Amino acid sequence: MDKFIIEGGRRLCGEVEIQSAKNAVLPLLAASILTDERVIIHRCPRIRDVLNMIEILCELGCKTSFEGETLVIDSADAANHEIPSALAKELRSSVFMLGSVIARFGKARIAYPGGCDIGLRPVDLHLKGLKSLNVSIAEEGGYINCACDRLIGTDILLDCPSVGATENIILASVKGEGVTVIRNAAKEPEICDLQNFLNRMGAKVSGCGTSTVRVEGVKKLHGVEYTPIPDRIEAGTFLIAAAMCGGEVALKRASADNIAALIHKLREISCKITVKNDKIYIKSGSARKSLRMIETMPYPGFPTDLQAPVTALACISEGSTVIVENLFETRFKHVPELIRMGADITVRGRAAFVRGVPVLHGADVVAGDLRGGAALTLAALSAEGMSTVTDLSHIDRGYSEFEYKLSALGAKIRRIRV
Ligand code: UD1
Repeated sequence: MDKFIIEGGRRLCGEVEIQSAKNAVLPLLAASILTDERVIIHRCPRIRDVLNMIEILCELGCKTSFEGETLVIDSADAANHEIPSALAKELRSSVFMLGSVIARFGKARIAYPGGCDIGLRPVDLHLKGLKSLNVSIAEEGGYINCACDRLIGTDILLDCPSVGATENIILASVKGEGVTVIRNAAKEPEICDLQNFLNRMGAKVSGCGTSTVRVEGVKKLHGVEYTPIPDRIEAGTFLIAAAMCGGEVALKRASADNIAALIHKLREISCKITVKNDKIYIKSGSARKSLRMIETMPYPGFPTDLQAPVTALACISEGSTVIVENLFETRFKHVPELIRMGADITVRGRAAFVRGVPVLHGADVVAGDLRGGAALTLAALSAEGMSTVTDLSHIDRGYSEFEYKLSALGAKIRRIRV
């Protein structure tokens, strides 16, 4: 298990370029098999979730190649409709393949998906949505088997605005018959990116970014060349890093609109943030006012994926902060590790009560999930003394060249390969 060795206490200064959004790229990869023409994705990050998704595409019979940061997918010869258990368990987004695999082959077989262990994470809404589109579904032995002669458009109301279910239903219905309307749809920017990508392939999707999405089925989709949106969670992670360590950092190729909830909070605690085109500048000193209250919400509310990093920030902010996690049941695994670094946190159910301390101290901690691992890395960068963060496999799922980017800003961080 790789680990980071971190010497804390350095200010962060300089410029960092934000990668394309993991959560945008993954559904685009799923969408790529909806055509047998070439799909080209520029600025594709080589993070583990993306590499796993590429492996799934290869398993289905696609040919893929990286030319620098450009990924080329050729699915002309794709013929397999089964996603093996070992790959499906590696990442939750494998379930997005259901919609597009059914649309391409009229059938799909997939093992129940994995991903970060942050709660129940059922796929009932995905399956219910697909059933409404005339897909028959049988679950046996840990596998989901889907079959369908014709995908027929319909009106679907989601019980909650699930990002993945919204994307899966769009992917399944885009080549279906007639019109599909998804109500109470998720509004995340990555869903808008999927809409733009699909429409560039010849699809007729509208309404993404609102709670009602409309998909008018088309007969055929063609190849596309596309650059996904920047990663708002990576951008948020670097902003929080700067807020915790102090310094002056510029984020290149970032969207401030997509992380308005975080920027608003950082300004409240006295970070100076300015935005110019696709650059976000943050200037932060050593005094941080209380964050008071943060509740994770579907977009445009505060993102659950930044809950762990912002909890680390609350640990060294003045006064008390209440953090409520509304989306996932067990997303506080980073808390016991932060406590090892001197944080003062009590968790009750879905709420964490954080009393700020002047400084954290270095410790040996374990990254239990992707965003929790990022939070521990930031805590270690801000702490006094040396820390190790063990099990980087989670962090590598979502951050490309994390330690190089942080080092370039002046952090003392290196990876030990084990
Ligand atoms: C996506 C993101 C993930 C982010 C999450 C919430 C990707 C690849 N991942 O995950 O980074 O943390 O959105 O913003 O885009 N739910 C059900 N039944 C379902 C589906 C979801 O009950 O069939 C519930 C979940 O348990 C959760 C809530 O809906 O409580 C939101 O989950 P969802 O929006 O589906 O998250 P993901 O798409 O898995």
